[in-house]
Amino acid sequence: MQARLIETHEIAPEVRQFLFEVPELDSLAFQPGQFVSFRGELEGRPVTRAYSIASLPRGNRFELCLNRVREGLFSPWLFELQAGQSVVMRGPLGYFTPRSPFRDAVLVATGTGVAPFRAFLQSDTVLDNGARVTLLFGTRYEQGLLYRAEFEALAESWPGFTYIPTLTRPSNGWQGRQGRVQAHLEEALANRTGLDVYICGLKEMVEEVRTLLKARGFDRKQIIAERYD
Ligand SMILES: Cc1cc2nc3c(=O)[nH]c(=O)nc-3n(C[C@H](O)[C@H](O)[C@H](O)COP(=O)(O)OP(=O)(O)OC[C@H]3O[C@@H](n4cnc5c(N)ncnc54)[C@H](O)[C@@H]3O)c2cc1C
Ligand SMILES: NC(=O)c1ccc[n+]([C@@H]2O[C@H](COP(=O)([O-])OP(=O)(O)OC[C@H]3O[C@@H](n4cnc5c(N)ncnc54)[C@H](OP(=O)(O)O)[C@@H]3O)[C@@H](O)[C@H]2O)c1
Repeated sequence: MQARLIETHEIAPEVRQFLFEVPELDSLAFQPGQFVSFRGELEGRPVTRAYSIASLPRGNRFELCLNRVREGLFSPWLFELQAGQSVVMRGPLGYFTPRSPFRDAVLVATGTGVAPFRAFLQSDTVLDNGARVTLLFGTRYEQGLLYRAEFEALAESWPGFTYIPTLTRPSNGWQGRQGRVQAHLEEALANRTGLDVYICGLKEMVEEVRTLLKARGFDRKQIIAERYD
């Protein structure tokens, strides 16, 4: 099918939010955490890339959150796409979705790895069953804390949610946590072992966090991961 771009805007330096629709469908059904697969013809060859949906189902529309990989092939092309233009799409796909029943969870992300968790944190499956949820989110700079206002508002309004942002290259004025997500994993786990940990981002981070969890006695079934590379 075709996904048509409705609107796009910058939400951080080199990061854009995209709103697409699928004109041939009245509604696009998917689970929070699923992704779509886009296909293009670039430099004379077919290129396929996956993108996590950063929203809940809403008619035939869905949102993505994309980082422009400077030396990349497909993401710079998508950043040039204009409203009204279309891209070939497959999906929704994937199993990186909230477990059912959903129980206490820590969500760990870096960069645009937070995209599926934005969908998780809008979903009744996650919010309406009494589970405690902690989002541990790492970026380099304060401007890279994607959806910060949304997550801070959720932490204010919903006692079951804890937001733990951390910066690896903070400016002098930053008063919050510093360092990579691994440095704050213990705080996020808060001495609990009977919970699930969902991890999303680039491979190196995902595997390092997985290794720490295993060393701490977590069973592999408690670790649910989505790797972007
Ligand atoms: C299931 C899944 C879901 C994904 N969801 C998203 C998403 O929601 N948002 C998103 O921006 N990307 C997402 N990605 C990554 C995306 O598919 C592409 O890999 C990314 O856009 C780079 O493609 P490219 O052709 O521009 O770069 P390529 O020419 O393929 O270069 C790849 C290089 O970019 C790095 N890279 C890949 N993804 C990222 C990233 N997001 N940020 C920084 N560096 C990256 C890789 O480590 C690799 O070195 C997802 C990947 C998978 C497998
Ligand atoms: N990626 C690019 O090509 C690029 C280019 C220009 C600007 N930017 C800026 O960066 C932002 C988004 O880029 P990004 O995708 O790189 O995301 P990001 O928002 O910078 O987040 C990536 C985070 O992951 C951390 N990280 C890297 N390896 C890790 C590991 N093994 N374990 C744990 N954490 C790890 C990084 O820490 P370290 O600081 O320690 O690496 C950084 O804090 C944009 O807002 C833009 O301003 C990025």
